[in-house]
Amino acid sequence: MEIAIFGLGYVGAVTAACFGQEGHRVIGVDTDTYKVACINEGRSPIVERHLEEFIRRGRETGRLTATTCADEAVVQSEIALICVGTPSRRNGSLNLEYVERVCRQIGAALAQRQEPYTVVMRSTVLPGTCEGLVVPTLEASSGKRHGEGFHVCMNPEFLREGSAIHDFYHPPLTVIGAQSFEAADRLAQLYTDIPAECVKTDLRTAEMLKYANNAFHALKITFANEIGAWCKQEGVDSHVVMRLLTMDTKLNISAAYLTPGFAFGGSCLPKDLRALVYRAHQHDLSLPTLESILVSNRLQIERTAETIVQMGKKRVGVVGLAFKAGTDDLRESPIVALCEHLIGKGYSLRIYDPNVSLAAIYGSNKAYIEREIPHIQALMCDSLAELIEQSEVIVLANRDESIADHLHCFRADQTVIDLTRSVSPENIRGRYIGLYW
Ligand SMILES: NC(=O)c1ccc[n+]([C@@H]2O[C@H](COP(=O)([O-])OP(=O)(O)OC[C@H]3O[C@@H](n4cnc5c(N)ncnc54)[C@H](O)[C@@H]3O)[C@@H](O)[C@H]2O)c1
Repeated sequence: MEIAIFGLGYVGAVTAACFGQEGHRVIGVDTDTYKVACINEGRSPIVERHLEEFIRRGRETGRLTATTCADEAVVQSEIALICVGTPSRRNGSLNLEYVERVCRQIGAALAQRQEPYTVVMRSTVLPGTCEGLVVPTLEASSGKRHGEGFHVCMNPEFLREGSAIHDFYHPPLTVIGAQSFEAADRLAQLYTDIPAECVKTDLRTAEMLKYANNAFHALKITFANEIGAWCKQEGVDSHVVMRLLTMDTKLNISAAYLTPGFAFGGSCLPKDLRALVYRAHQHDLSLPTLESILVSNRLQIERTAETIVQMGKKRVGVVGLAFKAGTDDLRESPIVALCEHLIGKGYSLRIYDPNVSLAAIYGSNKAYIEREIPHIQALMCDSLAELIEQSEVIVLANRDESIADHLHCFRADQTVIDLTRSVSPENIRGRYIGLYW
């Protein structure tokens, strides 16, 4: 393919050199004449392992050139990859001036063009930027419509400085966000020789993914560092602890616990976090990330309560009471906390949890229920049908397989608040609200 790459910094220079190496014809564009001259002289504008060799070979084969002229690059290409910087402003907001300017330049060049063109965002931008800035700027400056004269894709970049060339050839996956399959398919052709799964999604998801990734990476580093700081105080080798932690690929290094949903609870996680934080404080050790976990968990309960309060209906049915499905354990259940919050605000509650109902009669939790939450026990329903019948708002707080058999019981005047993604919105006759979707 004939590719224009806008921005020849850490991302753009590597991308240009690697696509040139793959046999594409690449024209790099930068406003910085030094970087353009470097590429044209076969030198690397940045320090990155093996990059200079790649650029030199690109020049020797004639597959890689660079220019400061956006028009020239658009004329010579069918696809543009935008790799310009998106730095922080002083107040932390994202500075999109380079993105906007480059879109204006590409758009102006597109005004003269007859054939369709694809513009690909590789720079990291917040969700909504392609639809709210990139597309409108290109439309205004080209006089063409998105989807007709040009297509926009979001293709987040996953490479790391220091191992960027290796990362280009071994990405964890390729993600293409687009509004049309046609645009996504055209971009996917660029990656046919890269051995990674290519996932196509919408623009906002692709934009969001990059932030979720980077936040996760930062969280992992900080988590390891806080565990390390605590280990040091306890005289434990943190590298051994973290090596063992990462050996568990079922619960630790896996998709487990990574689905957004309601708050955590139960007899272990809250108790153990409290003990950890208390012990760290005894060492005069501040561990803000670990300390903030229970704070965040409490906010999760408050946010959910607020969603219910905003419905403005007083008769609320809650499906599930134990801290998770499949158990009768009520200790530190966030659903109990949610119910108590609502009772305190004068809501008329009905609760259905078959495991807890059984426990109240026979189980080992009988004493706990009678001692700690007798007021909640009195609100328990015997059947799901009864709960649905008596409620204006139904909160699906735990997954309950019997919901599927009761979909016909829901009425059009009811609202379902689904904390677990247990049902599909189209199966609910009334209003459906998901916690995070
Ligand atoms: N550096 C990384 O490891 C990395 C990894 C993944 C994603 N990203 C993201 O990729 C983007 C680029 O990052 P970077 O580190 O390569 O930035 P960089 O600052 O190294 O390079 C950006 C380049 O864009 C050029 N530029 C600015 N306006 C231009 C214009 N109108 N036309 C042509 N060139 C223009 C600048 O002169 C500069 O050379 C950012 O959004 C960043 O968040 C970076």
